[in-house]
This record gives sequence, C-alpha cells and structure tokens, in this order.
Amino acid sequence: LFDLHPKEHRNELFGRDSELEYLLEQLLAGNWVVVGGQREIGKTSLVKVAIRELKEKHGFNGAYVNLRGVRSLNALLTSLIPEMNSSRVKLDLSFNVNFIMGSAGIQVKRDAKAVSSLNELLNSVHEDFVIALDEVQELSQASKQFLDILGNVFSSNSRVRFLFTGSYIGVTRILIDPPSASPLHGRPPVILNLRPFNDNTSRVFLRKGMREIGVDFNGEEEVVKRLDGVVGWLPNHAWCLVESVPVYPRASRIVH
Ligand SMILES: Nc1ncnc2c1ncn2[C@@H]1O[C@H](COP(=O)(O)OP(=O)(O)O)[C@@H](O)[C@H]1O
Ligand SMILES: [Mg+2]
Repeated sequence: LFDLHPKEHRNELFGRDSELEYLLEQLLAGNWVVVGGQREIGKTSLVKVAIRELKEKHGFNGAYVNLRGVRSLNALLTSLIPEMNSSRVKLDLSFNVNFIMGSAGIQVKRDAKAVSSLNELLNSVHEDFVIALDEVQELSQASKQFLDILGNVFSSNSRVRFLFTGSYIGVTRILIDPPSASPLHGRPPVILNLRPFNDNTSRVFLRKGMREIGVDFNGEEEVVKRLDGVVGWLPNHAWCLVESVPVYPRASRIVH
C-alpha cells in the first residue's frame, strides 16, 4: 500500500472503488473523461488501474502515455507509437500515407508530418480503444493543433476514447470548458475530480499500510489532522512520526 509508484492493480488501489466503477462505466459508454485533482491525489494510479481493468475484464484495448516533458505533437507521436504497438491495437491502414508497417508494428515515415500522422493513426484505430494521456497540460504549447486533432477524432472515430489527467490549466481547462471556437465545443468530456480521503478512510489506510509492513503505529490521528487526506503524502508523514518515536524492529529496513 505504501509503495511509492503509481498503483497498477485494483487490489492495490485503496478507497477508490466508486471512482473506478464510475470511470469504467463512462469509458465503456463511449465518453471521454478528464480525471482532475491535486498532485499526489492518485490520478495516475486510478488511470493505470482503469486501463488494466478494461483490458482484462471488458475486452477493451488501451494505451497509457505519460506526457511529462512531451511538449510538441512530434513528441506526442513519438511517445504514442510504441504504446500503441505494444498494445497490438488493430489498425486499418488501407489508405496509409504516413506509416511503414514492420514486424514490431508501425513506424512513422521519415518525412511524415506530426498532425497528419496523428490524425491518420487515430482515425485508423479499428477496435474499441482507450488512450490515456497523463498530465495533458504539458501539451499546452501545442494546444490549438492538438485540439483540432481531438475534434477530428471525436467526430470521425467513435471507437477511440480519450482519458486525460491534468491540472486545471492550459489545455486541460480548454478540454473541460471548450470555448465556442474550439473543435470540442458542445462535447465536453466527463469530469472526475479526485477528492482527498476523508478522515476515516485516511485512518484505515494508514492502519492497513502500517500493518502490511509490520509496524505497530498509532499516530493516525496526528497524520490525519495535518494532512487532509492526500493519499500520496500520508505514508511519508506517517514515517516521520514513526522515526521520531522509539525504533520499531522492522521499520528501519523499509525507510529509504
Ligand atoms: N488509491 C490509492 N491507494 C493507495 N495508494 C495510492 C492510491 N492512489 C495513489 N496512491 C499512492 O499515492 C502516490 C501518488 O499517486 P499518483 O497516482 O502518482 O498521484 P497523482 O498522479 O495524482 O500525482 C503514489 O505513491 C501512489 O502509490
Ligand atoms: Mg500523476
């Protein structure tokens, strides 16, 4: 529970059952979704688990792309292609202009343009497919063309669904509330805002996590009071307390 990587399995995801169900329901219904919320609240974890569940239980295919540092459409294309290849997405490239098909999947032709390639790639997806773009605000500099591509996919290929996470700035704000000139105007995505855990959920989370690693902990009240239920911060603050009290036998091996 206290592992610091984003969670990937449903059974590691604590206290987010209803959010996960809602997210899956929306994606299965064909809607696009923006998962919002402050840093460390669990957006990446929720999204990764959702993609896994769609693949394993709902016969949906999907890809997860972390956009940190991805500022241009070229960079987007470069990060998207390997993920699409490893998901073995079914593509109908009968009118292909921008891609070369190889044994390991597709590759962009050297002189291909990013906008045209992205449009072609997304429109050629030939099965139900969810593309998770994590930290979509990173693409804010490229937002005009990016939104044009999204608008185009939205109207021409209903098998592709986008799942975004992002903070409420730049392109994320436009996605949530598209101005009348935007290609996504009139079709805003569903918003799922992740909230901090309430006090009781935080308490149970801490107790369960501490028990998992064999630490006898009773500082929950202190941590809960100071932390407002932001899941990513709860373990660290609990550790600070553990370290300030007499040494527990198995704790020292785990703190890094
Ligand atoms: N539902 C959850 N249960 C347990 N740990 C979680 C949960 N959600 C997030 N975490 C943990 O909190 C930290 C931040 O999660 P992450 O998904 O990266 O948040 P965000 O993407 O919002 O910044 C990570 O250490 C992750 O393992
Ligand atoms: Mg994240």
